Amino acid sequence: MTATERSLVLVKPDGYSRGLTGEVLRRIEAKGYRLVALQILTPTTDMLHRHYAEHEGKPFFGPLVEFMCSGRVVAVAIEGERCIEGFRSLAGATDPTKAAPGSIRGDLGRDWGLAVQANIVHGSDSPESAERELAIWFPEL
Ligand code: PPS
Repeated sequence: MTATERSLVLVKPDGYSRGLTGEVLRRIEAKGYRLVALQILTPTTDMLHRHYAEHEGKPFFGPLVEFMCSGRVVAVAIEGERCIEGFRSLAGATDPTKAAPGSIRGDLGRDWGLAVQANIVHGSDSPESAERELAIWFPEL
């Protein structure tokens, strides 16, 4: 038997500004995951430094943080059996040019000359990341 999990999904500034939030939420619900909490916000650099702590020191860390606070983000807590892995499958590969058709990034993403930071969505990559990230974006949960 598999346990119910929670995961953090972010519709990134490119996804929000392109009006793709509804499509992302539709795919999450169509897959059978529940939406537990949702907020639209422009994140602070402090939140993003904590969120992306594991990438601190990598060459893309600064540009990624700058991009993520350049506009509104939709933060969503989702719930369901194996939803952490399941949402990563829905999202597709990090690079939207290489992401498989059928996935969010494969169907809706492309290279906009912004490396792979503008790839529509973020999803937690493990139960530990999900717990840590949900505490940043939804401390009340
Ligand atoms: S890693 O190093 O393999 O763990 O990186 P990856 O999982 O592929 O990506 C982690 C997040 O970093 C973003 N990313 C980038 N941003 C800007 N420039 C470059 N070159 C770049 N490479 C990766 C990528 O979009 C991931 O963001 P999130 O929000 O976690 O999906």
